[in-house]
Amino acid sequence: MGCGPNKHSPHQSVPFVWERAQGCEFPGRCVGQTGLFQVAVAVVLEKKILPNILKKIGCTPMVRINKIGKSYGLKCELLAKCEYFNAGGSVKDRISLRMVEDAERAGIIKPGDTLIEPTSGNTGIGLALVAALKGYRCIIVLPEKMSMEKVDILKALGVEIVRTPCTRFDAPESNIRVAWKLKSEIPNSHILDQVKAVPPLTPFPKRVYRVSRCLGVHMVVIGSGTGGTITGVARKLKEKCPECKVIGVDPDGSIVALPSELNRTNTTTIEVEGIGHDFIPTVLDRSVVDQWYKSNDRDSFLMSRRLIREEGLLCGGSSGSAMSVAVRAAKDLKEGQRCVVILPDSVRNYMSKFVNDKWMIKNGFLNDVQEHKPWWWNIKVQKLNLSAPLILLPEVSCQKAIEILQEKGYDQAPVVAESGLILGMVTLSNTLSSVLAGNAEFSDPVTKVTYDQFSKIGLEDSLGKLSCILENDHFAIVVHEQMQCRYLQKLSTGLAQVFERGKGNSQAHFGRYCKECRFDLGWEK
Ligand SMILES: Cc1ncc(COP(=O)(O)O)c(C=O)c1O
Repeated sequence: MGCGPNKHSPHQSVPFVWERAQGCEFPGRCVGQTGLFQVAVAVVLEKKILPNILKKIGCTPMVRINKIGKSYGLKCELLAKCEYFNAGGSVKDRISLRMVEDAERAGIIKPGDTLIEPTSGNTGIGLALVAALKGYRCIIVLPEKMSMEKVDILKALGVEIVRTPCTRFDAPESNIRVAWKLKSEIPNSHILDQVKAVPPLTPFPKRVYRVSRCLGVHMVVIGSGTGGTITGVARKLKEKCPECKVIGVDPDGSIVALPSELNRTNTTTIEVEGIGHDFIPTVLDRSVVDQWYKSNDRDSFLMSRRLIREEGLLCGGSSGSAMSVAVRAAKDLKEGQRCVVILPDSVRNYMSKFVNDKWMIKNGFLNDVQEHKPWWWNIKVQKLNLSAPLILLPEVSCQKAIEILQEKGYDQAPVVAESGLILGMVTLSNTLSSVLAGNAEFSDPVTKVTYDQFSKIGLEDSLGKLSCILENDHFAIVVHEQMQCRYLQKLSTGLAQVFERGKGNSQAHFGRYCKECRFDLGWEK
């Protein structure tokens, strides 16, 4: 199967339609009529059989965006390069295959060795695919933020997964540091290191660069994760089509964009996966990017949902980031000019995330869309009947925490520092099983077994929003300026039980609640 233009394409003016439609290309009336024809069919079919799935990396389709550009009043033609048609489902299949093949050619790795990679998931999936086919053991070190879908795909591909907290890249428990620690411990293991790898083969066929004026492409819009894709594409374009503008997309909360003033924000977390960093990856050459734009989670997810609904492009969240920037960046392009947007991966990785209405509502990206709401849906959380607090201080030992929870009949409690900072949630079952499994000692502070991932909700939020959270999570923590922490526990009725803690962080408040609850929680020292 080649990458040549499809002669039957109704869009002859689109230069990037490479592959014929799948299925039988010979009308039924012809097949079998003559032996010669059957042989011809057999030869063609034989040619269409790929020796293995790695040959399905590259040659992804370019698709015209028909509605979204117009709705923003764009005059230029908007095109999407659908990288999710690669074998592993993302743009990162290209670099994964290339890193392995380069290392094999250089005699650095051989089948049977272990490949370790710190990744946000897609490079992991690409590497896992290559490793599965070529016979390598594969360990992927993945930050906890990444979706369960990616984890399940990696597991299905036979990968060993190590999950790390979402911390600074240079923290000892970051996925990068943990990967290097594993490498030092496992014999014959290698980190091919996408962050340092040479830029990948670009997602454009050579033809694009050969033909004068780049076939009318005046702008490309690309998100930056490791920066490999944008650097690879931009370098080639600078060489072959210098008039084509390269737009880099960097999410709020990341520090990659230039000028660096663009990066000033209060945003500390990035929900969109695969783009943005708190350091400048070695592979990223920012000098070849003509202009940077910042993207944000909300616009990105809403745009991804539009790409799916209006254009039928089943893409992921960072595709929405790139497209949400493209509709701004391309507004001055003229009729007849083209803007190409790279869609790095597919919706497959985010089925429990932005495609899910409840997830969108819970995270504040979508106003609630439920048509038949129960009577209590719009009631505010503050209307709930609040009861006395049960919180644990971080210094409390696991043993004490177990005793307190058992005595009061609760199976979980929030852990809150004296400053009022909510550190997370501790559950009776996790504390007991961690101690039994030897992962924690009875004498360890309870923070050793604290879950630091939790959903927050405000007193002004609706019970509807709370209900969306409790659909997936076992608890939510209510945060308010006056009352810093309330804790809602999901009950079998579906309603919530609420505990509150007093304003401020003074000893007096802690003491008061301590006496009221008659708990020795360790803060009256
Ligand atoms: C979903 C997604 N979008 C965009 C990117 C950015 O690609 P690059 O790392 O080449 O900058 C990645 C990289 O992993 C990704 O997973």
